[in-house]
Amino acid sequence: MNAVLDNILTRRSVRAFKEEQIPGEDLNAILTAGSYAPNGMGMQSWKFTAVQNAAVIKKVNEAIRRTLLTIPVVPETHPYVASLIEKAKDEHADFLYHAPTYIIVTNLKDSGNAMPDSALAIGNMMLAAHSLGIGSCWLNQLPGLTHMPLIRELLTDLDVPEDHIVYGSVVMGYAAGDTSPAEPRKNVIRIIR
Ligand SMILES: Cc1cc2nc3c(=O)[nH]c(=O)nc-3n(C[C@H](O)[C@H](O)[C@H](O)COP(=O)(O)O)c2cc1C
Repeated sequence: MNAVLDNILTRRSVRAFKEEQIPGEDLNAILTAGSYAPNGMGMQSWKFTAVQNAAVIKKVNEAIRRTLLTIPVVPETHPYVASLIEKAKDEHADFLYHAPTYIIVTNLKDSGNAMPDSALAIGNMMLAAHSLGIGSCWLNQLPGLTHMPLIRELLTDLDVPEDHIVYGSVVMGYAAGDTSPAEPRKNVIRIIR
């Protein structure tokens, strides 16, 4: 099997990380891979904000935690969201898997291509990371809360343009422990000849 296909088939989400930071050179290569993803009309309207500063990662985590605490739990609340809100009651709750690197992908608020463009960029970054021996996991807490005031404040602090929202985010670092092999694939492929 060629190296690219092998890299795609062996990548798995990593949710436990060593403290060791990933080198700047690797981070640059990963972000560059993201920036080479296909994107609608070649607009490159995305921004990749990579955070490697532990104090800033803590600030992001705290903004997520405090925002979750503002959400009322009602009967319609999805059980997963309710569990996140419950978790947020613990002031030490960590929503970023204690990863040393966190990449936030933002893009224009009202653009039809923003979501697919951002997702493709993140896919490229995750595969690039895996090819360098770096683990990653998409995290949906920040994107889910992107319209909340505390998160907007945080994004402004991080120099994210005011007309951007978060479409995806990804934690990265060296995996602490092994990942299990991928689940067998579902029967989703159809070829019409
Ligand atoms: C859009 C999207 C949202 C995701 N959100 C989360 C998340 O919030 N937390 C998490 O731990 N994993 C999240 N994941 C990771 C998926 O759970 C994971 O990719 C899936 O179970 C398949 O496992 P694999 O990545 O190891 O192949 C997300 C993945 C995607 C693509």
